[in-house]
Amino acid sequence: MSHKKQTLGEFIIENQTAFKYSSGELSSLLNSIRLAAKIVNHEVNKAGLVDIIGAAGDVNIQGEDQQKLDVYANDKFIQTLTKRNIVCGIASEEEDDFISINSQDENHQNKYIVLIDPLDGSSNIDVNVSVGTIFSIYRRVTPVGTPVTKEDFLQQGKKQVAAGYVVYGTSTMLVYTTGAGVNGFTLNPAIGSFYLSHPDMQFPEDGHIYSVNEGNYIQFPQGIKNYIKYCQKDEGDRPYTARYIGSLVSDFHRNMIKGGIYMYPQSSKNPEGKLRLLYECNPMAFLAEQANGKASDGFTRILDIQPKELHERVPFICGSKNMVEKAEEFMRLAQE
Ligand code: AHG
Ligand code: MN
Ligand code: MN
Repeated sequence: MSHKKQTLGEFIIENQTAFKYSSGELSSLLNSIRLAAKIVNHEVNKAGLVDIIGAAGDVNIQGEDQQKLDVYANDKFIQTLTKRNIVCGIASEEEDDFISINSQDENHQNKYIVLIDPLDGSSNIDVNVSVGTIFSIYRRVTPVGTPVTKEDFLQQGKKQVAAGYVVYGTSTMLVYTTGAGVNGFTLNPAIGSFYLSHPDMQFPEDGHIYSVNEGNYIQFPQGIKNYIKYCQKDEGDRPYTARYIGSLVSDFHRNMIKGGIYMYPQSSKNPEGKLRLLYECNPMAFLAEQANGKASDGFTRILDIQPKELHERVPFICGSKNMVEKAEEFMRLAQE
């Protein structure tokens, strides 16, 4: 069967019945994310025009305040999910606390909560380099019809029912999983539809790319330093190539297609690492595992970590299976 003309909307409906908790609710939720992604994409594409149409803090021609793009993306995703009334709670990297949506109303039977990093790699916006959005979906653990609590958000990553990202790159793509593999859809901007362009995405088991902010090298743990030297060694299929965009979504996306490893380790400055467990690491780890890759904090599987707080950070090593295992081996050896 040719997948060439299948749109994301069709794909979501066709695969709804294959989903074990199928009720249509998750499909509506994915459709809302699809819609918000298109709106944000439209705005991201205009980012280079800020000098002409106004920057954050300015007032635009309609008399509206211009927003920073990460605030804009945050508002759009939250608005879209709230208005359509299909989730009972949202937590965002941009918000201090989680948002409860009519969940105290017993008529609201919504089961799902969403966690988002609305604009990932935001420092790349000003220089016309790819950014992304990351999302993560769970079923609430507290009873429907009662207010959501922190407990609903602090679930282990392995409890995710869906996760994905949008990459606003040379093409805009939406890549997601509901636990049955990873599929990628490319936006045709002329028509405004996402088409299945990358069915069943898989990390190659081995890769030749390592992605890390080497400016922090001196502060890295010894295991990571040793692994980086291993990557650079002239031996066998090495040295590997270094590629670091500084936008997790884009670095992950490239590594999944070409084979590679992404690392944001702990450092003396950031002893917990930098990336957020709930908004960045868990969704990417779920995608990685669904695409035959691996994600670890150096010792532990990311998806097994029990979160303690919403904005918790964690060291993150993710990508081609054999590369991640090698990095873990170096971490272990340096501990001994
Ligand atoms: P965000 O823009 O959501 O704050 O995330 C940026 C993250 C991640 O996308 C990227 O890989 C990393 O921070 C880059 O950090 P450094 O600039 O420290 O390398
Ligand atoms: Mn981010
Ligand atoms: Mn962000």
